Amino acid sequence: MARRPLVVGNWKMNGTAREAAHLARALVDGHPDGAADVAVCPPFPYLAAVAGIVAGTPVALGAQDVSPQASGAHTGEVSAGMLHDVGCRWVIVGHSERRTRLGETDEAVRAKFERARESGLAPIACVGETLEEREAGEAEQVVGRQVDALLADGGAEAVGESVIAYEPVWAIGTGRNAAPEDAQAMHRAVRDRVASRRAAAAESVRILYGGSVNEKNAAELFSMPDIDGGLVGGASLDPDRFIAICRAAGG
Ligand code: PGA
Repeated sequence: MARRPLVVGNWKMNGTAREAAHLARALVDGHPDGAADVAVCPPFPYLAAVAGIVAGTPVALGAQDVSPQASGAHTGEVSAGMLHDVGCRWVIVGHSERRTRLGETDEAVRAKFERARESGLAPIACVGETLEEREAGEAEQVVGRQVDALLADGGAEAVGESVIAYEPVWAIGTGRNAAPEDAQAMHRAVRDRVASRRAAAAESVRILYGGSVNEKNAAELFSMPDIDGGLVGGASLDPDRFIAICRAAGG
C-alpha cells in the first residue's frame, strides 16, 4: 500500500503573532501542491489566526499538545474539541520535550492520543530514545514500550489511521540527525511492533522521522522505505527551508 508522505512543521514556542502570520502566508504562497500532505503546528495563541490564513489551501493546521480531559475545571489546558473547533486537523502528542521535561508518561500520552481521536483530530504520537538509552543498546526496547502503550486495549486499529513520529531525543535541535539507515531500522522496528498486533494497521500507519531534519538531509531520509515524511522543528521556521523539505517528500 502506498502511504502518502506527510511533512509537519512544529513551530514550538517561537515567534510573534506577526511572524506566525508571515510564515503561514509564505507557506501558502510557496507550497507546491504535490504528492505530500503538509501541516503546521503553531503555538496555541496563534492557531486561530493561522487557521484563517491556511483555510482552503493544501496547508493543514495542527496543535502541539492537547488535554486528555474533554472539558471542565482544568486551568491552562486546551481541549481537543477546542482545537477541532478552531480548525485543527492534527495534534502532536507525547513530544519528548514534554515527556522528559514535564514528566508525561506513556499512559498520559495514550490518554491524549485517544481523546484527540474521539474529537476528530488525527494524533501524531511521538516516540524516541534518549542518548543514554541508545548508548546502553536500549533504543528498540524503549521505543517498543512507547509504541505498545498506544497499541494496548485495541488501540492498534486507531494507530493504523494515525501517525507515529520517531524522534530520537539526541537528534532534536542538535543539528545531528540519525543516519538514514539507522532511522530506517527504527522505523522498521516500529512498523513490526504494530504488525505484531494488527498487520493492516502496520501497512497504513505513517511513520515520520524527526530530529534535525533540514533541506539537505531530507531527501535521503525520506527515500527510506519505512520513513513516510518528517516532523520538523527548527527548519520549519524558515519558509524556504520548510518548502524545500516538503518538496523532498514529494510535495
Ligand atoms: P528539530 O525538532 O527539527 O529542531 O530537531 C524536531 C522536533 O522536535 O519535532
